Amino acid sequence: MKIAIASDHGGFGLKELLKKHLEERQMEAVDCGTDSEASCDYPDFAEKACRLVQQGAADCAVLICGTGIGMSITANKMTGIRAALCGEPFSAHFTRAHNDANVLCMGARVTGPGLAEMILDTFLDTPFEGGRHQRRIDKIADLERREHHV
Ligand code: RB5
Repeated sequence: MKIAIASDHGGFGLKELLKKHLEERQMEAVDCGTDSEASCDYPDFAEKACRLVQQGAADCAVLICGTGIGMSITANKMTGIRAALCGEPFSAHFTRAHNDANVLCMGARVTGPGLAEMILDTFLDTPFEGGRHQRRIDKIADLERREHHV
């Protein structure tokens, strides 16, 4: 599995830790920045990582900022991206099973490192259930098309 990972300065430390965690799990982490704790703008890094998902160059993305909110707002502006901000494994499980989320967002100032690893593992290990949930995903895609034609 190839996973794009990105953060702003607020999420930098957690990004580095989760990169190691992915490598320990024999998964390929594609680091889309940032590369230090110097102040930067989360939309720049959300865009880079989500582009890889859109292009099929990554299976999914993990985005981390202080709260996870800026990253999730940005990611959900991008066509075909279904980003979920998760603070516990229950949401991570169901956003994969029911929403077929392809981007996981977390807040490094909200969620501690151990819990973040557990949330990430749950997200990666849960398949989409399809069925009635596919119909709802199709409606989201249809809404996206209609919005872009306004
Ligand atoms: C940066 O200080 C902070 O605003 C950012 O990391 C994030 O929490 C925004 O949603």
